[in-house]
Amino acid sequence: MRFFLDTADIEQIRKVNQWGLLDGVTTNPTLISKTGRPFLEVVNEILEEVDGPVSLETVSLDAEGMIKEGRQLADLGSNVVVKIPMTPEGMKAVRALEEEGIPTNVTLVFSPMQALIAAKAGASFVSPFVGRLDDISGEGMKLIREIREIFYNYEVDTEIIVASVRHPMHVLEAALIGADICTVPYGVIEKLFKHPLTDKGIDAFLKDWEKVPDKPF
Ligand code: G3P
Repeated sequence: MRFFLDTADIEQIRKVNQWGLLDGVTTNPTLISKTGRPFLEVVNEILEEVDGPVSLETVSLDAEGMIKEGRQLADLGSNVVVKIPMTPEGMKAVRALEEEGIPTNVTLVFSPMQALIAAKAGASFVSPFVGRLDDISGEGMKLIREIREIFYNYEVDTEIIVASVRHPMHVLEAALIGADICTVPYGVIEKLFKHPLTDKGIDAFLKDWEKVPDKPF
């Protein structure tokens, strides 16, 4: 499973890249606005840092506007993926952009049928939101299982990005189900490293190291 970082914060992106865990980045208008910085400044820094796909979202609601914005976004870098919301107009834009060779990521997906529709429109990626479903007492990971099964049944190439991830269990389940990608907030990636026995073990080793005579370091 590939790890994407779900952020527009360049410092977070650089850190995760140094850890060797950065396979791509996903952004959305909320994440961009959280930086408080000009759009192009933020995006150009991200594109310079990241080798893998970087999703940038359109904001128009009609296909024509989405296609125009999608082309503009794609011109910013060869690794740009245009993020388009799951609407009928959105699917028109997905088809047009993919035909031009511009990869798309269909976002705000909350049902298996929406995912299938996105795949049939030719989307390169589909982003089902697990956390927001859990928030309303839905079952986010059930959605991923169902999409995985449907895509398997029909040998669909569209890659599943598990999005709206809230905690390490979402990441674990995504990997067990066989999602292609999990886009993870920085705080959750940090938690993936942690285990109390790791910390306890390091403490014990360091204490014992103190007792070793004539140490080289
Ligand atoms: O990038 C889209 C998605 O991951 C947003 O997550 O936490 O706003 O539900 P969240």
